[in-house]
Amino acid sequence: MDKKSDFKPYSKPHSTVIVGAQWGDEGKGKIVDVLAERSDIVVRYQGGPNAGHTVIVGSKKFKLHLLPSGVIRGKRSLIGAGVVLDPLALKAEMEEMRAAGVKITPKELGIAYRAPLILPTHRLLDGMQEESKKGKAVGTTKRGIGPAYSDLALRTALMFADVFAKDWPKKLEAAVFAHEEILEKMFSIKIDALCRKSIKELEAIPPFFEGFQANVNLEVTDALDAGKKVLFEGAQGALLDNSFGTYPFVTSSHPIAGGACIGVGVPPRSIDRVEAVVKAYCTRVGSGPFVTELSGKVADELRQKGGEFGTTTGRPRRTGWLDLVALRFSHRLNGFAGMHITKLDVLGGQPEISFCNSYEIAGKKVTEYPADPLATEKAKPVYQKMAGFGDLSEKEWAKVAKEGKTKGLDALPKNAIAYVNKISELSGIPIISVSVGPERESIIFAK
Ligand code: IMP
Repeated sequence: MDKKSDFKPYSKPHSTVIVGAQWGDEGKGKIVDVLAERSDIVVRYQGGPNAGHTVIVGSKKFKLHLLPSGVIRGKRSLIGAGVVLDPLALKAEMEEMRAAGVKITPKELGIAYRAPLILPTHRLLDGMQEESKKGKAVGTTKRGIGPAYSDLALRTALMFADVFAKDWPKKLEAAVFAHEEILEKMFSIKIDALCRKSIKELEAIPPFFEGFQANVNLEVTDALDAGKKVLFEGAQGALLDNSFGTYPFVTSSHPIAGGACIGVGVPPRSIDRVEAVVKAYCTRVGSGPFVTELSGKVADELRQKGGEFGTTTGRPRRTGWLDLVALRFSHRLNGFAGMHITKLDVLGGQPEISFCNSYEIAGKKVTEYPADPLATEKAKPVYQKMAGFGDLSEKEWAKVAKEGKTKGLDALPKNAIAYVNKISELSGIPIISVSVGPERESIIFAK
């Protein structure tokens, strides 16, 4: 029998999925970078260049969009078949990372043959589809995500494997032609000069990616069989999930933990743990319901102090208090074994911190996230308040944490401990770590 078809139960399972528990931008890049140190493989399972994972190492700031965050530590980094791949965007990102001293050869990076491609025309389609929605636009990143996943569902997508086919130029031409027809007939526009230039560049791309093709599914399966540690890196957040998020204001993939199985091609039983990344307050970019959204002074303070501007688009993020109703829903979708609470320092200096533990909908108190996505639009937040804490970055304990002498969460100020414990108590998710700054070192593990 072929060795590979003989399915073995994983003798030493070590697989963790990292999921953004809110609307993305929770700080997954930093957490994956920290956890990657103890992993053998980091694999991205969904999304595309709409993601923006920031990792800060010393004085260097890396902004990753398509590359798995493990690449910075030189870990084997894989892009699964669930990721929509923009070859031109990835090439630019690889060149930028190489210029910053990060090694990226086929030894470090592998790309699934089946990863669907984002073509320059997908970007145009994304823009036009958004425009045609007028006041109801999703507020996409305009990176071609929705149109590329649509082509996959329609069975018309090109895949990474096609780049290496003898007739790649022909395949590309046919796909572009199909998009041209839609652009002309539906939106009355022609492909512009910039787009034509990108298509030409794409036609010439095969040599750049030669050697990066990988049997990601087999590699991850073999690694798990061998007892290696695999980190599945999610992008965006659970509340942007195509099926369970705030539809239609969602992305077109499945950021929830179940998406890891589909995006890499591993059985559900191969996932040991799912860990959440939870921002200590809430943000979202683009349109859609946001029950705890703030406006005014506190909203601006959180935006400025938290640097809440899109990594990919630069758009200012909407900001608000922590929504525990939504977080409990996220927990239900993902089954979190624990959470990494990020950006707690951003709340430092607020005299009082509010959090929402229930909604009011049509005069009724609601503690479970509404099943009907339209109901969320009518929900009003019911807030509880806690005393705030001081500016964490100025605290002596931050220096202590950097020296590695932290005593776990006890090193935090009393009111900060009370706040994170409250989040854990009301969400039912145990705390794994708390982040108090963007650097690798600014993280306190609970035990
Ligand atoms: P798309 O994924 O570009 O189609 O955008 C769909 C929605 O998801 C929009 O509201 C975007 O702002 C949001 N979105 C997409 N990627 C991210 C991300 O990485 N972080 C936060 N929001 C995102």
